[in-house]
This record gives sequence, structure tokens and C-alpha cells, in this order.
Amino acid sequence: MHIPVLYDATLAALNLRPAGRYIDGTLGWGGHSSGILAGSGPAGQLLAIDQDPMALAAARERLASYGERVTLMHGNYRQMASLAAQHGWQQVDGILLDIGVSSPQLDLPERGFSFQYDAPLDMRMNPTQGESAADLIARLNETDLANVIYEYGEERLSRRIARRIVEQRAKNPITSTAQLASLVRSAVGGQAGKTHPATRTFQALRIAVNDELGALREGLAAATKLLAPGGRLAVITFHSLEDRIVKEWMRDQASECLIPAKLEILACPHSCAAKTGPRACIYPVGRDCDYVPTLDVLSRKPIEATPEELKANPRARSAKLRVAERRLTTALAPET
Ligand SMILES: C[S@@+](CC[C@H](N)C(=O)[O-])C[C@H]1O[C@@H](n2cnc3c(N)ncnc32)[C@H](O)[C@@H]1O
Repeated sequence: MHIPVLYDATLAALNLRPAGRYIDGTLGWGGHSSGILAGSGPAGQLLAIDQDPMALAAARERLASYGERVTLMHGNYRQMASLAAQHGWQQVDGILLDIGVSSPQLDLPERGFSFQYDAPLDMRMNPTQGESAADLIARLNETDLANVIYEYGEERLSRRIARRIVEQRAKNPITSTAQLASLVRSAVGGQAGKTHPATRTFQALRIAVNDELGALREGLAAATKLLAPGGRLAVITFHSLEDRIVKEWMRDQASECLIPAKLEILACPHSCAAKTGPRACIYPVGRDCDYVPTLDVLSRKPIEATPEELKANPRARSAKLRVAERRLTTALAPET
């Protein structure tokens, strides 16, 4: 069973209204979604998205009593704009992203997320598409493997682990969680009673397999555009890489101008929001950036679990909630 984290704070952050329209981009087992439906009754509408068919099936049952007030869609929240359009929505009053994996996903051996069980090394949240962790490990060269493990796992011994993986896969393909866990342990050692030495490597591969950071960046951009004036964006993250992306996105969208005045040629980060790569938006010195801020940040510091919540749900330990509100009077900068 998945206990929703920061439940009360998240529902309060969304500022639910009786006939509001909401998107839950990470439905999971439907804990937050059922709170959104209860809090936006009697006429609030929810579009709930998950890329995992298993999560959708579990939540469908849990949310059945809300009838037509809720629509479930299989998909990636990075495609939130087109999913909302399919549903006939151009604007919404609140969006929730509670990212990462859920406890049931971690706890089901056959999903291959965990080194606690021996299972095929899969790790895809959407098992209907993309490359499994075993395929990724078989494909990447040693340098790229080390970079993934270093960047997404913040693992200092990434090069040693990558070297061991490459040596081992030359003898036998690495296809199971137990194989990978013992290989990492043999590469880096590990003391009894401490965190398993493969924890960071598993996290890194999971993030890479699911392109979690790419989805987050695109999801934040899509969500910001979909919000109606006064609409709220609430994002829960579980590690520092994700939290930094959310913090910087909200800060950038809330600031008037990011151009350092002393530079002669300026590339304003604001103007890349709509595109995949930076669009060189060049301003001469002294000219103001014409970007119009889109968000107000409501949580200067991230909201974290109280000691009571931590006692009931230790998984909330690393959860951070950040909240922003779509500005009332401004229009989004046009995409060019
Ligand atoms: C932490 S759980 C959400 C739990 C949920 N808030 C609840 O109360 O039950 C994260 C869920 O988001 C889904 N997910 C993660 N990244 C996603 C993405 N990019 N698009 C769609 N779903 C995603 C996962 O499959 C998982 O079911």
C-alpha cells in the first residue's frame, strides 16, 4: 500500500475549489487524487495520468465512487498538454506532480526496481515501451555508464562500478537485480548494517531508464502553460537533483529578468522554456528583457514532513514540496 506523502500540505497548496479542474500527473495508487476529488466536490473534475498501467488499474478501483468527475489516462506527464487537450481542457486550476516511484512499484519483485529481490533487471515505470535497465547496461559504453551512475546516483565510485560492469558483461549478460547488486558490492565493498552499496547505482539506472529528469523539465514547462491565472502548481520530489530542477524552474519563471546587465551579448534562459534547446535570444546592453514572469513562488523554502508524518511513513523523509501560483495579470511569452 502506498501512503501519500505530505498529504495535507499538498491539498492545502492546491487551494481546491468546488468546481475546479485539476490534473494529477502522477496518479500512482490514487491517494492524492482521492483527496483532490474529495476537496473539490461536489463538481470538481480531475484528469489523472500515470505511465504505469498497474497503477492505473489500482487507482481505477479506488476512485470508482467519484464516477465521471475523474478521468484516468495512460501516458507520461511530459505530454500533459496534449493529454489535457484530448480531454478538451486548455486551462486548469491546479496541477500536482508527486514524482519518482511508488512503494508498490518498489515492492513488486518483477518490476526489477529493487536489489532486495532477485528479478529481471527492468525498472521501466511504463513496461509497454522503452529500454529496460538490462538493455541500457548492455548498450552504454564504459564512460557513459560511469557518467550515468555519477550524475544520477551521485556515486563517487562510478568509474570503478562501470569498469566492473563492462568486465562482467563481456563474460555474461547482466540481466538480474541480484547479479547487478552483487557486482556493485564486489566493485566497491560495503559495510554490514550500512546502506547497500548498490543503492545509488540502482537509483541512477532507474532515473536514466525512465528519463525522469527530462520528463520533469518538460512536465514543469507544460504545467506552467496549462495553469489558469491563480492556478496552483505543487511538486513533490524525493532527491536533490529533482528538487534543484523544480526550485530553479519556479525561481526563473518568477523573476523579471535573468540577464546579467554587465554582459554585452545575452542569452536569456527565459526564452528557452518553450523549446528543447536554448534559443539564442540576444539583447544589447541596456535593453530590458521583454520576458513576462509567469509564476509567483509560494514556498520560499520547501515544505517537509512533520515528525508525526515521519513516524507513520519513513518514506516521507526525503520528500520536499514546492508550490507556485500562475500570475493573474500576465500572459505567457509567445513561442517563436
Ligand atoms: C510517488 S508515486 C505517486 C503516488 C500518488 N501521489 C499517490 O498518492 O498514490 C509516482 C507515480 O508516478 C508515476 N510516474 C512517475 N513518472 C511519471 C511520468 N513521467 N509520467 C507519468 N507517470 C509517472 C509512477 O508510475 C508512479 O505511479
